[in-house]
Amino acid sequence: MSERVAIFDTTLRDGEQSPGCSMNLEEKLRLARQLDALGVDVIEAGFPIASDDDFAAVREVARTCRRPVIAALCRTTPEDIERAWEALSEAARPRIHTFVATSDIHLQFKLQKTREEVIEMAANAVRMARRFTDDVEFSAEDATRSDLDYLCQVITAVIEEGATVVNIPDTVGYTIPAEYSYIIGTLKERVPNIDRAVISVHCHNDLGLGVANSLAAVAAGARQIECTINGIGERAGNASLEEIVMALRVRKDLMPFETGIVTEEIYRTSQALSNITGVHVQPNKAVVGKNAFAHEAGIHQHGVLKNRLTYEIMTPESVGVKTNSIVLGKHSGRHALNKKYEEMGYQLSRPELDKAYKLFTKLADQKKEIFEEDLMAILQDGIAQIPERFKLRSVQATAGTSTMSTALVTLADSKTEEVETQTSAGDGPVNAVYQAIDKITGLAGNLIDYTVRSISRGTDAVGEVFVHVEFEDVSYTGKAASTDIVDASARAYLNAVNKALYAKERKLTLSVTN
Ligand code: KIV
Ligand code: ZN
Repeated sequence: MSERVAIFDTTLRDGEQSPGCSMNLEEKLRLARQLDALGVDVIEAGFPIASDDDFAAVREVARTCRRPVIAALCRTTPEDIERAWEALSEAARPRIHTFVATSDIHLQFKLQKTREEVIEMAANAVRMARRFTDDVEFSAEDATRSDLDYLCQVITAVIEEGATVVNIPDTVGYTIPAEYSYIIGTLKERVPNIDRAVISVHCHNDLGLGVANSLAAVAAGARQIECTINGIGERAGNASLEEIVMALRVRKDLMPFETGIVTEEIYRTSQALSNITGVHVQPNKAVVGKNAFAHEAGIHQHGVLKNRLTYEIMTPESVGVKTNSIVLGKHSGRHALNKKYEEMGYQLSRPELDKAYKLFTKLADQKKEIFEEDLMAILQDGIAQIPERFKLRSVQATAGTSTMSTALVTLADSKTEEVETQTSAGDGPVNAVYQAIDKITGLAGNLIDYTVRSISRGTDAVGEVFVHVEFEDVSYTGKAASTDIVDASARAYLNAVNKALYAKERKLTLSVTN
C-alpha cells in the first residue's frame, strides 16, 4: 500500500497574505468549508495574534470544521502561543504552529539574536505549546538558507521538546529540487530523533519551483506538504495544492503516495477562491486554468476526439471540470466542428458539414472564439433549408393612444393542414400579434431583441424586421421584410418559430435513431 502524504492547506493564512487576496470572516468560513469538502488534512486558518480578524477566523473555522486539523500560527513568544491556543480552544483537532527564523541573515538583521538564543526560543515555544496540545508543529523559517548543521541542531531540539511536525520552509523560494532533496535527506540522516516527527515542506514560488521542490522533498522523505489553492501567497505565491495533488496522482508510477484529497472538488475549490477574492487564475494555469483541458489545434482536437489519452494526461472530470472543452477557433478542424454539432444535438449530413465548415472558417477568420450561438446561426441561416411549418395567412392589429392593442392572426399549419385563427391583446400591436401566434403554435417565445429598419426610401418604404427569440432557453433569429411593418413583424417571428420547430424535430430524430 502507498504511503500517505498529508496536505496542509495554508490558503487562509499564507495565501491570504498575497496582495488582493484578503478575505473577510464570512468568506474565510465559506472557503474553509470547501477545503473540508476537498479533504485537506490540515487547514491553517490564520495568525491569531496578528489581528482580531485573524483571531476570529481561527476560532470560527475551528468551531465549524470538525474533521481536519485546524492550525494557528504563532511566533515563539508566550503571548503569541497563548493567543493561538485561545483561538483554537474549541477545535476538535487543534494544532499550534510556532516558528522562528534559523538563517544567519534573519538572525542578524531581523531577530538580532545568536544561534544559541534562537535554539532556546524554539525549544521553549514548543515546550509551552505542548502544555496546551499534543499536536505542535515547528517551522524553521528560511530553512533553505540556514546552515545545515545548525538546522539539524534546531530540529533535534524542538523534537526533543515534543514537536510532532517539523517544517523546513523554503521561505524565499530559493532552493532547487536537488538541493531541497539533499536537505531533507540530511535531516533524516543526522537528526537522531527525526523518527518522532513528521517532516513537512513549505515552498514559495519565486523561481517557479514550488511544486517541483515539494515533490522532490516528498521523494526524500517529507510526509506533509504545505500549499495553497491556485498557488496564492506572498510574492510569487506558494506551491499550488492542485498541481501537487494531481502530479502525485498522475505520476503514481514514480511517486507512490496517497493523499486524502477528493480531486473532483479541486476545480470547485479553485473557483470558490477566485470568486471570493476576485483574483482569477491565468487561463493557462495547470489543472485549474480555463484552458487546462481546452484543445484548439485541429490535430489535437482530432486526437482527443478519437481517444482522450492522445493529448490528455488526466481527465477534466478527475478535477471536477465537467467536460473537456473543444474550443472552436481558426485552428479547429471539420472533425471538431461535427463533434460540437453532435454535442448540441445536430447530426449533419456530409454535404451539410462541408457547407458549415466553409462558413465556419470564414467566420473564424474574423472572430477569435466561436460560440454555440455562432454555430446555430451557421446552421439556421447557411445550411438547413428550414421547412415553413407555419405560414401566415393574414394578420390584423389595432393600436392607438387610448386603446389596448389587439391582434387577429390566421396561420396555416403545413403538417396538420389546418388553418387556425386566434386573437390576443397585448402591450402594443407587435406584442399582441406574437401572443396570438404563440396560441396557435403552442410555443412560448421570449422576445430578446426586436429591430426594424427601412431598406428602401419614401413613406411606402420596405421595412425589415429582425427578431431574436428564445424558445425553451435556446435562441433563434428571424427576419422578414414588407411594406407593412405588422406583416413583417409577424413573418420574422414565424421565421424564428419555424427554426425552433425544425431544431426540435431534428433532435427528436437524432434521439430516436441513436
Ligand atoms: O514561508 C514561511 O517560512 C512561512 C512560515 C511561517 C511557515 O510561511
Ligand atoms: Zn510561507
